[in-house]
Amino acid sequence: MAILDKHKFLETNATLLLICSFFVVTIGGLVQIAPLFYLENTIEEVAGMRPYTPLELTGRDIYVREGCYVCHSQMIRPMRDEVERYGHYSLAAESMYDHPFQWGSKRTGPDLARVGKRYSDEWHLDHLRDPQAVVPESVMPKYDFLERTRLDGDHIGALLATHAMVGVPYTDDMVAQAQRDFRAQADPDSDYDGLLERYGENVTISNFDRQPGISEMDALIAYLQMLGTLVDFSTFTPDASR
Ligand code: HEC
Repeated sequence: MAILDKHKFLETNATLLLICSFFVVTIGGLVQIAPLFYLENTIEEVAGMRPYTPLELTGRDIYVREGCYVCHSQMIRPMRDEVERYGHYSLAAESMYDHPFQWGSKRTGPDLARVGKRYSDEWHLDHLRDPQAVVPESVMPKYDFLERTRLDGDHIGALLATHAMVGVPYTDDMVAQAQRDFRAQADPDSDYDGLLERYGENVTISNFDRQPGISEMDALIAYLQMLGTLVDFSTFTPDASR
């Protein structure tokens, strides 16, 4: 009982309680934060990650502009129910080229971290035009206006250069060819060899919105179809389990 009496003294003495609480929180903070200063790197390097193509990066900007993150997360937690529903849990490396990251904090709709290649381009087109036509009970808004907004890609080089400034490894060649690559990805009849050379073989080339020219819909679907497909999880083993 003696110790409880002493604790009572602490609890009834506001200033002392405040000082002691501060002391405890400081220790807790140091234990959690200090080790991070001594780690070489907090992001494990993973094969397959590449900067987004000009069209995907544009789609990502539309995703942010439309506030898709308000209803969708892009972060699969390492819990069984999530992994069984969505696939391998998200790796830090998978958002290393995201400025800002799109982890989100609310799931009105499902997580989108691995939605890429799960549906066809037509499915996304139908769903984005009119979600209720595909899922009658859906509360997702209609985004049919995206296919009516044309894009010329005039400023896409500047967008890549801006991302290069904050650390995304876009080369001078990628920036110089940005507008060409932007057009090539949405046109399967174009000469897209340069695009594949710069960004790798796993870039999806398609007329995403099934219309001539490039629309915001093309860009958004290109972005969605890439999500979660860059890392090959049939060969990936996390550091901790090697
Ligand atoms: C008001 C909340 C809300 C907003 C905003 C929203 N969605 Fe959704 N989304 C949902 C809901 C609910 C579902 C599940 C029902 C359905 O498929 O429509 C969904 C489903 C989806 C799916 C299918 C996922 C799967 O695994 O089946 C995709 C892809 C998607 N949304 C993309 C988007 C994009 C891109 C945007 C922004 C342009 C967006 N959503 C904005 C609520 C939202």
